[in-house]
Amino acid sequence: MSGGFGGASALGRRRFLVISTAAVGLPLPISGFASGLLPGLAPAGAGTTSTVGLTVNGERRSAAVDNRTSLLDLLREHLGLPGTKKGCDQGACGACTVLVDERRVNSCLTFAVMHDGARVTTIEGLARGDRLHPLQEAFIDHDGLQCGYCTPGQIVSGVACIAEGHARSREEIREWMSGNLCRCGAYTNIVTAIEQTAKGA
Ligand code: FES
Ligand code: FES
Repeated sequence: MSGGFGGASALGRRRFLVISTAAVGLPLPISGFASGLLPGLAPAGAGTTSTVGLTVNGERRSAAVDNRTSLLDLLREHLGLPGTKKGCDQGACGACTVLVDERRVNSCLTFAVMHDGARVTTIEGLARGDRLHPLQEAFIDHDGLQCGYCTPGQIVSGVACIAEGHARSREEIREWMSGNLCRCGAYTNIVTAIEQTAKGA
């Protein structure tokens, strides 16, 4: 899974991760993303259960979860939203990207209990009825996917990239999408899909 978006620098990747972790109040791991990160950061009361209430894709949802449950597992295992993918489960691939209060977050890296009351948008929340989000359409039109495993994270991240104003050039898109890896190497077409959507936005 090396290479990323080509022009994306390690600095850019770190910047994305700083933003995504800062958004949820987690410290940025100093080197790499060692497995066991979440247990190492377990909040007080780990092992006990809390009820978490969120607005997910515009709908009020709640679930009683172990305090160590990641936001990703809450979405996938408790709320029946499997569109958000688990790739590395260590904050390294971006497959689990969702929006929390409009900001990109690696949902595998953050505890569900930290987001009580938050607004979460997942890939399932982008379409309007039968009408796909313009970026979803663009991924289809420009072949922005091959196996599709990274695609939900790429699209959610791409939506935020455009909304943030970080899609003014292909270079900028590569930089600000560098937290999302694609093992199939569909980067060129992903950038094109985001670029075209941003132009039409
Ligand atoms: Fe979360 Fe890879 S599954 S970053
Ligand atoms: Fe297969 Fe990105 S990992 S399309």
